[in-house]
Amino acid sequence: MLDVDDLSVEFAGVTVVDAISLNVPDGPFGVGLVGESGSGKTTIARAILRLVPVSSGRVDFNGVDVLALKGRGLTALRRRMQVVLQDPDGTLDPRQRVGSALAEVLAAHRIVSRAEAPARITSLLTEVGLAPELVDRLPHQLSGGQRQRVSIARALALTPELLILDEPTSALDVSVQAQVLDLIERLRDQHGLAYLLISHNLAVVERLCESITVLYLGRVVESGPTAQVLGRPAHPYTAALRSAVPEVNLSGGARTRIVLPGTPANPADLPSGCSFHPRCPTATDRCRSEVPTLADIGDGRRVACHRSAEMLAGTLELHIKPTVDQLADHREMEE
Ligand SMILES: Nc1ncnc2c1ncn2[C@@H]1O[C@H](COP(=O)(O)OP(=O)(O)OP(=O)(O)O)[C@@H](O)[C@H]1O
Ligand code: SF4
Ligand SMILES: [Mg+2]
Repeated sequence: MLDVDDLSVEFAGVTVVDAISLNVPDGPFGVGLVGESGSGKTTIARAILRLVPVSSGRVDFNGVDVLALKGRGLTALRRRMQVVLQDPDGTLDPRQRVGSALAEVLAAHRIVSRAEAPARITSLLTEVGLAPELVDRLPHQLSGGQRQRVSIARALALTPELLILDEPTSALDVSVQAQVLDLIERLRDQHGLAYLLISHNLAVVERLCESITVLYLGRVVESGPTAQVLGRPAHPYTAALRSAVPEVNLSGGARTRIVLPGTPANPADLPSGCSFHPRCPTATDRCRSEVPTLADIGDGRRVACHRSAEMLAGTLELHIKPTVDQLADHREMEE
């Protein structure tokens, strides 16, 4: 369905997405895109939707060369690929009632006739678990979870082939997050949806995505089937992310929490060699000078690390002694 190849994006001469590739097959199928803040997740989504200029690469969507589209072709693309953002407040017009927001999308894309619109709106609201009476509400008269359901209903109104979900639950309370995840799961099964799900929460990706792509500073460091990647990471960064998420079901054995020192580097001034080396507990001299290439390691997996074979063999000692400050930071994050 979606094939992204060697996609790069620069802002003011700084490469923030560096030759990434990913693939979303026909649904029902979820691809998770994970990485720390600033790793380029939203930029990739925006580039696929042609909302930011791409400096090189290729995006193929069901045989359409997305980067060559103009005018009407672009409008059609944005109907076939719908996006749901983290913060529904940014996408819903505060002065527009729920029913009118949905009617507008249906009319703009001529999905149903004017006479059929009310019935379609009722069925969309019901489908996302909202009472049809909410049609007359303004966004501020809804809870965060209800607003996010309206955004999802609006995306579904256009019967898209692909959904891009950018942190769809991270602005919601934990209890509401679970309900919205249940909704995505149900819709996925009912409509055979294909989606690219951006998240920094590996537990969410583990639940909703068959495949996962891990980004670090604009580059893919590991990708492959979610069960394999999270069950036995081949990249120290994936291992570190995973160890920070207690909810992820790990395939047996005790788990050592890895606390990464420092924060990601500035993309304008990337470290030499492997850009993860200043934070990597197992970096060697080779890592400081030679950029690891993304290599196929079998079972559908790709990884960019000089020591992935040792990682997979379980012979690397990843546990590092965090400083007192880092432990304090970590406790704060957990609270
Ligand atoms: N319009 C822009 N102009 C300049 N720099 C940008 C722009 N948009 C994003 N960036 C930079 O690109 C990098 C990637 O940003 P992006 O928003 O894609 O990260 P992200 O992975 O989505 O982070 P988060 O988890 O915080 O949403 C960051 O360094 C950011 O500062
Ligand atoms: S290449 Fe070296 S520094 Fe980079 S992740 Fe692998 S071991 Fe760590
Ligand atoms: Mg983002």
